[in-house]
Amino acid sequence: MPKVTIKNSQGDDQGTFTADPTQSVGTHAQEEGIAIPFSCGVGACRTCVATVNTGMEHLDQEAVGPKHIETEDNEILTCICGVKPDAPKGCCIEIQAENL
Ligand code: FES
Repeated sequence: MPKVTIKNSQGDDQGTFTADPTQSVGTHAQEEGIAIPFSCGVGACRTCVATVNTGMEHLDQEAVGPKHIETEDNEILTCICGVKPDAPKGCCIEIQAENL
């Protein structure tokens, strides 16, 4: 699976982990100790929003549930967005959390 790198809103590196397609990138980041804030947890607010710097093509924006609000083309809701199960090993995904 690809590596996922999380940056904070200032662009500082917060950590990198191997993607797990069974859970959202936000939940996985939290388990790795990277505290991306959640509020609703179901894709209906913007608390967990992140800009995708690299690897949008490897992400499923509604991996664990439907999106209830609109986002920009380069944004994801990390509480519901996951890595596609067929994403190639060796590719990299970098996201920048707006509220981290
Ligand atoms: S926590 Fe509300 S959209 Fe993710």
